[in-house]
Amino acid sequence: MDAKRAKTGVVRATTTAPVNIAVIKYWGKRDTKLLLPINSSLSGTLDQEQLHARTTVAASSSFEADEIWLNGKQEDISNQRLQNVLGAVRALAAKKDPEHPLKDAHIKIASVNNFPTAAGLASSAAGYACLVAALAELFGVQDQELTAIARVGSGSACRSLMGGFVRWEKGTRDDGADSLASQVVPESHWPDMQVLILVVNAGKKGVSSTSGMQSTVKTSALINHRAEVVVPQRMKDIEKAIQDRDFQTFGRITMQDSNQFHATCLDTYPPIFYMNDVSRQIVQILTQYNDAAGEIRAAYTYDAGPNCVIYCLKQHVQEILSLVCHYFPSSESEFVRGRSTTASDYSSTVDAAVREKISGPTTADGVKYILHTGIGPGPKTLTNEDAFLIAEDGSVKQ
Ligand code: DP6
Repeated sequence: MDAKRAKTGVVRATTTAPVNIAVIKYWGKRDTKLLLPINSSLSGTLDQEQLHARTTVAASSSFEADEIWLNGKQEDISNQRLQNVLGAVRALAAKKDPEHPLKDAHIKIASVNNFPTAAGLASSAAGYACLVAALAELFGVQDQELTAIARVGSGSACRSLMGGFVRWEKGTRDDGADSLASQVVPESHWPDMQVLILVVNAGKKGVSSTSGMQSTVKTSALINHRAEVVVPQRMKDIEKAIQDRDFQTFGRITMQDSNQFHATCLDTYPPIFYMNDVSRQIVQILTQYNDAAGEIRAAYTYDAGPNCVIYCLKQHVQEILSLVCHYFPSSESEFVRGRSTTASDYSSTVDAAVREKISGPTTADGVKYILHTGIGPGPKTLTNEDAFLIAEDGSVKQ
């Protein structure tokens, strides 16, 4: 077991875990307790350098109860999904060792994100994946079953337990034992693949994915066709495109699948709108850009919110950054963040012939900022004391 045991009898483990962005979307559950999906899905795991959750878990027979702190604030641990995750890790540990030394210990959890939770950047996926990875380290259990445990926290979290591109098989069993995530390719497979996140300025958060997808399952006439016919074929095609590093096929399917997910939201009764005017304007600009270039260079995808995630190749990053800066001028001093911190001038970066074919209004401050990131590895274990959010004596660090 790698977990740190201090003289005080407190055992601790700290891990980080990544955000993932689906290119084949998970939308709809066949079981709302076990979080079993109606279709398989596939995502890219984002580089943790830019976005990650970090979690310390600590166990001690001297703790009086399980407790959790999120971003420095104590929260209610009775949340059903958290309880399901804790119960499932304890059960897995007991299955491997009925006399597991931590079997009766209470657990303290402290977790933070290195990005604003409110920005709508899939924080629950990173958060639950991180919790499961940290608990697995603490209890000394490693198993593909861990992806099923992350899944009961938040469906998409199971895809954050691995790097590169990851598939989540919907499975057919009622107990969910075959609804697991596995790696399609590691992060080293396609180093040219980059990701730009356009954080769109938006008001209050709309319908949560959990409730939105259930309304879709109950009322949409299109969702079954998507789950039964469209997604199985797309899963095969996009996996092959990833294996072959075929960006044209990858990009087309990514955009089509995002479009179809949002079409099923519109087909929900009453309809759900996640994309806003700025999101749609971005789609228009990127479509004109791809058409003008005569190939797909920027593949957009949208989750349950207005932010745009663009998958693109390294050689087009500056061009796309300058395009976005041109159509969404901003007064923000750190408008471009992450792997790039500046965008080149539009007229000198983008070919005149391409520019000529793109037109549309400019919307000042429509985009709050752009985060340039890429594809990265799965959860990491940290051992340096500075990384721990809970001290050796079991107290939560401030
Ligand atoms: C649009 O995983 O957040 O991001 O399982 O209810 O926690 P729950 O939902 P969640 O849904 C994610 C939906 C999505 C698409 C995706 O990530 O595949």
